[in-house]
Amino acid sequence: MSNADAARLHLTIDGRSVEVEAGTTVAAALVIAGVGGTRTSVSGQPRAALCGMGVCQECRVTIDGRLYALACQTLCREGQVVCTTATASVANVTDATDVFNAASENGGMNGTNVGRGTNATGTTATTTTGTR
Ligand code: FES
Repeated sequence: MSNADAARLHLTIDGRSVEVEAGTTVAAALVIAGVGGTRTSVSGQPRAALCGMGVCQECRVTIDGRLYALACQTLCREGQVVCTTATASVANVTDATDVFNAASENGGMNGTNVGRGTNATGTTATTTTGTR
C-alpha cells in the first residue's frame, strides 16, 4: 500500500484539526500538528516526548478526557480529542506528590505499573518495576 492509499484519520489537538495516516501515534500527530510539547511540569518547565517507548512518561497528554495518557503509546483514532494543556483537576494540584497520585489513578507512575498503554500494534503493553 502506498502512502496515498493509507486511511486518513481526523483528530483535534488543542482545538486544531489534524489529519494523519492510520497507525500514527498521538506523539507523532503532535509533531505533525506543530505542537511543541506535551505538557508543562509542576515547576512550569515545558515537556515533550523523549523515549518514544513508554518509559519516560514525558509524553503524557489528555486523550478523550483521560488524563496522563501516553502519547507515544496511543494510536490516533477518528474523532479523537487530544489536549496538552492542564485540566482543572491538574491545575488544582499543589505539589509533585499530587501529580504522582493523580497519575497513579490513571494507570501510570504508581511504581508497579509505570508504563501502560496501547502500543503501535494495538496491543496493551505494561512496564512494571515492583518498587517505588
Ligand atoms: S515518550 Fe517516553 S513515555 Fe512516551
